[in-house]
Amino acid sequence: MYKQIGVLTGGGDAPGLNAAIRAVVRTAIGEFGMKVVGIEDSFEGILGETHTRKLNTAAVSGILPRGGTILGTRNRGSFVKMVDGKPTFVEMPIGEALANLDILGIEALVAIGGEGTLAIAEQFHKRGFPVIGVPKTIDNDLAATELTFGFMTAIDIATEALDRLHTTAASHDRVMVLEVMGRNTGWIALHAGLAGSADVILIPEIPFSFDSIIRKVQAREESGSKFTNIVVAEGAIELGKREMYQDEKNMRLGGVGAYVSERIQEMTGKESRCVVLGHLQRGGSPNAFDRMLGTNFGACAVRALANGESGKMVALQAGTVVTVPISEACANVKKVAVDGQLVRTARDIGISFAAPKESKLGEEEMFEVRTSGS
Ligand code: F6P
Repeated sequence: MYKQIGVLTGGGDAPGLNAAIRAVVRTAIGEFGMKVVGIEDSFEGILGETHTRKLNTAAVSGILPRGGTILGTRNRGSFVKMVDGKPTFVEMPIGEALANLDILGIEALVAIGGEGTLAIAEQFHKRGFPVIGVPKTIDNDLAATELTFGFMTAIDIATEALDRLHTTAASHDRVMVLEVMGRNTGWIALHAGLAGSADVILIPEIPFSFDSIIRKVQAREESGSKFTNIVVAEGAIELGKREMYQDEKNMRLGGVGAYVSERIQEMTGKESRCVVLGHLQRGGSPNAFDRMLGTNFGACAVRALANGESGKMVALQAGTVVTVPISEACANVKKVAVDGQLVRTARDIGISFAAPKESKLGEEEMFEVRTSGS
């Protein structure tokens, strides 16, 4: 059994990180009698002049409902650099990190993060250092797990935003466009669009056409609804084009909401406004589900370490937390199935995905499915 383990958070923050940290600490101390060291600012905390802190039960008291991460986080840090617009392991200061872990008396690691963090964690495992990954992302785009914590809170926030946009859209007879996060997947847009009663949902998996959007806006006008609510995923793609970036060099998506809004105004003459929800989807308190999932993931990660596992990630499969190899977990991006149940349900209740040949309720739509990239 390890005497002392480390825990860190990497990548973009997600509601539920503190729940996971708290569960790691309480499980390690209470169940296995280990000590826990919190590594600050992701893997950066074990490079150079290390910055870590002892985590006991008192140190994690009261953090369950808190947003962000008490340990701090870094998006790429020293292990990954952008080369030709792609995040790449140019220099791997793993040797230095491993030497520092030894000096700090940390014998194993729980790494909480997205693909980037997990890929770095796997390098530690490959060099014989025990590590278990905990997935987090509001995007819910990791293939190996049915859900990641942060996602449900992001949907709550996006749904509330849609509810609020609804009343102002209806009052002004406007088209309101809400741009939500999700990278190259439409999970947040699809779920919030359903929960927040959007009229049109634009997701990367179903390239959209403006003619189709306009048909929907006009059909609503003719039926007496003078306003339209549209939710657009930041990675949504106009048919024949590619995703839009606010910062292409660093691959930061954004801008499609404003583009859609402006084009609709030009094409229909109706007033249109765009709201970019941005980091409001990530900040603040996690909802009950994300607190629960973060807690379960954290505890299961420590149990896996205590069980002698390494190079694995905890994952939710069929409602139960299991462990899967990190390499498998990061291999594929989980995309919205264009013929899946939720898309079908959305269509059945009259929501348009603005596919080029938008159809009547229940009929098949024709669209091109983007299979590469992301
Ligand atoms: O992966 C989480 C996420 O919030 C994405 O939805 C979004 O594209 C990206 O991170 C934003 O990153 P940053 O915090 O660097 O702006």
